[in-house]
Amino acid sequence: MGIYERLINENREFIDSTWQKIEDKMSVVAPRNKDKLPYTTENGRYNDLADTIPEGWTNGFWPGMMWLMYASTKNEMYREVAESCEPLLERAADDYDLLHHDVGFMWHISSGINYRLTGNKKAKSRAMYMAASLASRYNLATGVIRAFPEERREKMVIIDSMMNIPLLYWASRETNDPRFSLIAQSHADTCIKNHMRSDGSFYHILNYNIRTGECEGPVKGQGTGIDSAWTRGQAWAIYGYALSYIHTGKQRYLDVAKNVANYFIACVSRTGYVSQYDFRQDPDCPDTDTSAAAIAACGFIEIAKIVPENEKATYLDAAIKIVKALTAEHCNWSLDEDSILQNVAEHSKSMEKPIVFGEYYYIEALYKLKGFEPLFW
Ligand code: GLY
Repeated sequence: MGIYERLINENREFIDSTWQKIEDKMSVVAPRNKDKLPYTTENGRYNDLADTIPEGWTNGFWPGMMWLMYASTKNEMYREVAESCEPLLERAADDYDLLHHDVGFMWHISSGINYRLTGNKKAKSRAMYMAASLASRYNLATGVIRAFPEERREKMVIIDSMMNIPLLYWASRETNDPRFSLIAQSHADTCIKNHMRSDGSFYHILNYNIRTGECEGPVKGQGTGIDSAWTRGQAWAIYGYALSYIHTGKQRYLDVAKNVANYFIACVSRTGYVSQYDFRQDPDCPDTDTSAAAIAACGFIEIAKIVPENEKATYLDAAIKIVKALTAEHCNWSLDEDSILQNVAEHSKSMEKPIVFGEYYYIEALYKLKGFEPLFW
């Protein structure tokens, strides 16, 4: 038996009992949140962005969660809830000016999974149109994907995009046309050149001159300062580069994923495997973003599956420690309340609350530890 299987077996009781708690809770939470695009909870119950912010970057995670539950349980109820989100998400496509680089988060794990699991042609079209939209954000001068639509943010390229480009890898495979994948690889390579620092961490935002292509340097993003190490940004880089390796087989992407993973593990081991909001914040500051740890754990598990036998334990052990710490300290299993993972921070360290993307990656990490497949990104 290899080290991967041995570590899973040693933690089997924890993994099985936690997955059972997820199934018990989602079987109650899912049907009461059909026809909604949840973001956070209010008085314990999910709110709904479908009417107010259909273009919100988090709107794919609830259907994504439903597809994870459907793929693992084959319960049709989850499929119906997931499908109910697609017409609501489509409202975002009504206003071109509002679309952004996070369309991968929104459509790759909603319509994209629907198509891959069911062959639904309408779902395929939705995902392909959004792949085309993401590809259209690529700038030949800079070699990277522009993040935002507004002129005031025209220069910004952000590390989060690494987790959106799997939509492009999928589109190339689906169409047998390398254009989408070549754009994704150009983006990934340019981010290595400019966003990565010598300790393995990544800047969140760099400005580029969109006409000359010159990289003008970092600006403050969601981290605590220009030179900070926003924790979720590191997690997007870990999982994003691991996925770029999986989709292209290019060794440099795996090397980068391991580098930033090693940085993340060194940092998170100092705080009991729950991620701070920023790895360069004051070490005594209690601000956390649990979503970063959950996202990183998903990346670690994929890295552990790929690397040679004598490297696997580093990544799988860190993933299991993270999931155990989140489960012990930050999960709500009440069936009266909708969210599981607490203390996610979207834009500011002082705004910790349950947010749907934290929940999604926590469930995906357990889905992977249980051995469920496929990988949907
Ligand atoms: N836009 C993705 C994030 O806030 O992490």
